[in-house]
Amino acid sequence: MKKIIVAIDGFSGCGKSSTAKAVAKNLGYAYVDSGAMYRAVTLYFLDNYVSEGNPKAVTKALGDIDIEFRLSAEQPPRNETYLNGLNVEDDIRTMRVSQHVSEVSKLPEVRRFLVAQQQKMGKKKGIVMDGRDIGTVVFPQAELKIFMRAELMERAQRRQAELLANEEVATLDEIAANLRDRDRIDSTRTESPLRQASDAVELDTTYLTFEEQVDVIVRLAYSKILQEDV
Ligand code: DC
Repeated sequence: MKKIIVAIDGFSGCGKSSTAKAVAKNLGYAYVDSGAMYRAVTLYFLDNYVSEGNPKAVTKALGDIDIEFRLSAEQPPRNETYLNGLNVEDDIRTMRVSQHVSEVSKLPEVRRFLVAQQQKMGKKKGIVMDGRDIGTVVFPQAELKIFMRAELMERAQRRQAELLANEEVATLDEIAANLRDRDRIDSTRTESPLRQASDAVELDTTYLTFEEQVDVIVRLAYSKILQEDV
């Protein structure tokens, strides 16, 4: 069977990552969380006091950043993010990183650095990648593009549960404000703003269960794979 690229974009907190991961597992494809890469760069900038307003410092810092995904030893294995050899999977999900990541993601140097790595990962196809510009910039030729949305408070509740699982407590208002802010910055930035590709399938997940949203995408993927096979 031919392999395709599945690009999943959308607003913050729509459940793109968990959905994309389950879709990849179902198809037997690799999964890449491109947001984790922007989060890892942000963590590095915060920990090393790299100023976003200083292009020289940004370029120098990017030269010192190595991001990898590795599978954990537990069963079933988790796909975990490593920054310069250190497991940062939990650190990159904190509110501290969420509060800065959209500003860092606006920087053209950061986008060029990460987009090049993401395109390399998709060379052989058979990949599901989620983010904000996957269907528009990273893989404009992707066979299947999904654009996910969901109502703000539903997204805030889902994110709160995720944070709690990581033992971080944040109020719904605080989380909703962060999601709203990130949506605004991500959609209005000059460099690769978040927007729905003209050939993307729109999926509103407000009233869908997790299983339903995965199922919709898997079905669409198989119909593309079979089409591509003819
Ligand atoms: O998917 P996420 O919420 O973990 O992403 C965190 C931030 O990274 C998001 O607010 C914007 C940025 N991002 C981006 O600009 N482009 C991507 N392809 C993925 C994420």
